[in-house]
Amino acid sequence: MLGLPALSKGSRSRRRLALSAAAKVNLVLEILGKRADGYHELATVMQAVDLSDRLILDEAPDLGLAVNSDGIPGDATNLALRAAVALREAAKIDDGVHITLDKRVPVAAGLGGGSSDAAAVLFGLNRLWGLRWPVARLAEVATTLGMDVPFFLRGGAALGTARGEVLKPVAAGAVALVLVNPPIRSSTAEAYGRVTPSMYTDGSRAQTMAGLLRTRQAARVAASLYNGLEAAVAPLHPEIARMKAALLAAGALGVAMSGSGPTVFGVARSFEHARQIRARLTRASWRCWAVRTLGGPAVRVRTIGSMDRMMGRGQAARRGTLDPVFGGSNPPAPTTIRRGRR
Ligand code: C5P
Repeated sequence: MLGLPALSKGSRSRRRLALSAAAKVNLVLEILGKRADGYHELATVMQAVDLSDRLILDEAPDLGLAVNSDGIPGDATNLALRAAVALREAAKIDDGVHITLDKRVPVAAGLGGGSSDAAAVLFGLNRLWGLRWPVARLAEVATTLGMDVPFFLRGGAALGTARGEVLKPVAAGAVALVLVNPPIRSSTAEAYGRVTPSMYTDGSRAQTMAGLLRTRQAARVAASLYNGLEAAVAPLHPEIARMKAALLAAGALGVAMSGSGPTVFGVARSFEHARQIRARLTRASWRCWAVRTLGGPAVRVRTIGSMDRMMGRGQAARRGTLDPVFGGSNPPAPTTIRRGRR
């Protein structure tokens, strides 16, 4: 195998772990009602897709984070760093880590990118810090970070109930999708704040989708997509209706918004079909991806070498002309939380 092993000794004899953290779409998101704790009762089918952020975790004396993307908090409000703080407190230890985060998944987009990063940090630190906690124990910490985070500790497809955090794995065949993301952000809290009882449904759509997924029949999956939050979010962002119409005009079998939006996705007959649809979406301001659904884990351990290759800059990094993790002329500025500043 080329490159360093996944859990390797770094240059200062510190251990280093490389991870990828996949995004998700909600094939169905039903709002059943409002709970006494202020959250909404959900029935949702979440599905991991192969669009991923990359993370490098370096053992360190303190907690630090470097992010390569503008407009993403690199401070203590970042969910990846909050995950490290939460795990350190739950485990009652004083170990540290420096997280290097390469964002690929758009932010505040309904694709769970920040939640997946947080799950990757919990998963990776469980190894790096030698905790050996079972997933169920990590999931308790995950829930304190956000209701989507527990899903990413497992991945594949799952039926989520309660606030979305009670998960039942769903057997699912691979489906090709096209994701379309406009240059706007959507706030999850604001989306749920606009929900009215007229948007409540009974959960049967999620149950139907969970049963359908194992059939691998893209047309039936496409016909059963549903998102109850769309009625709350779409009036804020006319772009959502335009993206859905464009996807259908380009040949998508069915379309829906993911999570609290604004990203929408379309179902294709095959990955080749997804690529054709993507090529037909010509609006320059939209970011579009042809992706496959993931049957396996959302968080995966990578070799450092494969990470460099995935980032397309392995050669330059070896020549020493690029930062070995991110490359480019704009290496991320780190944020550090020192011991005692929890
Ligand atoms: O779980 P997360 O922190 O991502 O949720 C963000 C906000 O979305 C919550 O503070 C809440 O206002 C809303 N929410 C909700 N019902 C859910 C999940 C989230 O009302 N099941």
